[in-house]
Amino acid sequence: MQFSIRALAPESARTGCLVLGAYKARGTAAPVLTRAAQAADRAARGRLRDVLARGDLSAKAGSTLLLHKVAGLAAERVLLVGLGEQKEFGETAFRDAVRGAASALKSLGARDAVMYFLDFKVGRRPAPWNLRQAVQGMRESFYRFDQLKTQKKAAPPALGAVTLAVHGGPVTLQAQAALREATATADGVDLARTLGNLPPNICTPAYLADEARKLARQYKLGLEVLERRDMERLGMGALLAVTRGSHQPPKLIVLRYAGGVKKAKPMVLVGKGITFDTGGISLKPAGDMDEMKYDMSGAGSVLGALRALAGMKAPVNVIGLIAACENMPGGAASRPGDVVKTLSGQTVEILNTDAEGRLVLCDALAYAARFQPDAVVDIATLTGACVIALGHVATGLFSNDEKLAEQLCAAGDDAWDRVWRMPLWEDYQEQLQSNFADMANIGGRPAGSVTAACFLSRYARKLRWAHLDIAGTAWKSGREKGSTGRPVPLLVRFVLGRAGR
Ligand code: BES
Ligand code: MN
Ligand code: ZN
Repeated sequence: MQFSIRALAPESARTGCLVLGAYKARGTAAPVLTRAAQAADRAARGRLRDVLARGDLSAKAGSTLLLHKVAGLAAERVLLVGLGEQKEFGETAFRDAVRGAASALKSLGARDAVMYFLDFKVGRRPAPWNLRQAVQGMRESFYRFDQLKTQKKAAPPALGAVTLAVHGGPVTLQAQAALREATATADGVDLARTLGNLPPNICTPAYLADEARKLARQYKLGLEVLERRDMERLGMGALLAVTRGSHQPPKLIVLRYAGGVKKAKPMVLVGKGITFDTGGISLKPAGDMDEMKYDMSGAGSVLGALRALAGMKAPVNVIGLIAACENMPGGAASRPGDVVKTLSGQTVEILNTDAEGRLVLCDALAYAARFQPDAVVDIATLTGACVIALGHVATGLFSNDEKLAEQLCAAGDDAWDRVWRMPLWEDYQEQLQSNFADMANIGGRPAGSVTAACFLSRYARKLRWAHLDIAGTAWKSGREKGSTGRPVPLLVRFVLGRAGR
């Protein structure tokens, strides 16, 4: 799907489908057309207002109504999109409108569309915000994962070209930059989603390393993959303890994108890459265990973010560091009670083999220090407790640096891929006390996502560090079951923002 921006009068848009918005009126009055829709309505001698007055467009944001061959307009079809009440119109309604338009366009034969999404004012958001959300929302809606189905559903006629039209104003350089950012971000989201959706017999640690190799070749990135013997030599006893039960060789993937000035310290993004989490000897229950293939979503988001940043040639230095392995039971697997020595030198009593994410991450965080990073952000489907705390809306944010935390919050709000700060107070640390090692790998039931973060913080003392728990946001269960590609939009915005873009 190709996107472009053009200054264009709606009545003269020669297109398969002209997409216009209308707010619901208060009470019984007729709906309120957006400015572009008003212009089209004038050219069509009031036809749009006339149709809307009949009440066929529901009041819900994202509802749609299709008209054919409207006299006075050059377009073949007009798709009217409901925006809900004007005074309640906000980010969520905007996203619903984009999604509604996308699903209507999907079922049409139109090969191209002209959309007037840029003059729907969303609070104090500037126009480039609409633009990014429109592009990413469209790409999200048109995403399909059917590579493993032999009977493909009849492919919908391709919507090849989408014009984001500007009504009554020039196309700014800012808008062009926002378009490049949005399409590259959507490419990154696609990659993260597909990796999360791929089954665990395909998406293994070696597969993730191959994916990194593909990116390295395509975008000329630096790549290094550490193997089991390298981890042994270094002393990554925690990561090695997790991989013991598996027949899949572990990989520690280092992918470098150097788009910034040479002396600028790199941002290091650390991804949890458990390609399947059975729980190990502390085995998980069978129900929904299949979903634990998405336990590599942190890793997927790191690859996605790097793809996006390299794809838009962002002027930043970023290193992706991925700890990839599988958590399986078996004769060689780690046991509850095992004590291991981590790369940092600290020892850990493994009381639950299902708390494996923090074990692979603690060695990756210790390894990250060697890049002399500007800051380190780890991304992990770390705890079920985070899903209980924040649901599927906000990613959990933990940080030992106020400014870093603020920047991540701001980036999440801007990308509409939001995070919520959680405490990392000293008071929680005592839950990790162990009688047999420096610490235990679990802290009991209370505040499970906090004690997991507290564990990680012990390996990040010398770093400006933040941890994103994406257990609730990287995946959707139920009818729409599948990977979301979050938090790629957040990471991209954050890295760009930190570089002053
Ligand atoms: N990968 C899971 C966390 C998870 C749970 C992600 C549900 C997504 C959905 C993690 O490795 C895990 O098993 N965590 C345990 C920790 C516990 C043993 C302290 C959990 O959350 O139950
Ligand atoms: Mn686990
Ligand atoms: Zn896990």
